Amino acid sequence: MTTAIYPGSFDPLTFGHLDIIERSARLFDNVIVAILTNSQKVPLFTVEERTYIMREILQPRFRNVVVDVFGGLLVDYAKQKKAQVIVRGIRAVTDYEYEFQMALMNRRLTPDIETVFMMPAENYSYLSSRLVKEIAELGGSVAGLVPEIVEKRLKQLFKKEN
Ligand code: PNS
Repeated sequence: MTTAIYPGSFDPLTFGHLDIIERSARLFDNVIVAILTNSQKVPLFTVEERTYIMREILQPRFRNVVVDVFGGLLVDYAKQKKAQVIVRGIRAVTDYEYEFQMALMNRRLTPDIETVFMMPAENYSYLSSRLVKEIAELGGSVAGLVPEIVEKRLKQLFKKEN
């Protein structure tokens, strides 16, 4: 049985993340989507809200995917969960340097956990949580980029300021 961890900030969840989760669920026996709790970045969505949204979307759709929250080193969390694989989505060449660094550093810390990179569908190759937040904040449409529940929440969050 292979357990894979798909870690990230997911602030917020996009269709690009969903695409990677779908591919992972087909490839691995169990997938843990792990939300980082102690990020250096100030999040827009609280961890509780991200967990709620992701469970709402993923639970009815995948039998072998669970959503969890983690802090500390990713490799320690992976060991604790007895995971053999870390999944990361890679979009363009610009992602490569950061992902390469992280994968090799994680391998140095724990050599028996393998990082697997996956490419999302090409129509999501320019999609990022950062851009979604920026567009929503400036009043643009994020329809088709994020699930409806995220779209609605973004509208609520930025309504007060506009
Ligand atoms: O979606 P993100 O923000 O690019 O995800 C980054 C994440 C969560 C994968 C990365 O920040 C991480 O693994 N953080 C946990 C702390 C850790 O293990 N740091 C050392 C990485 S080599």
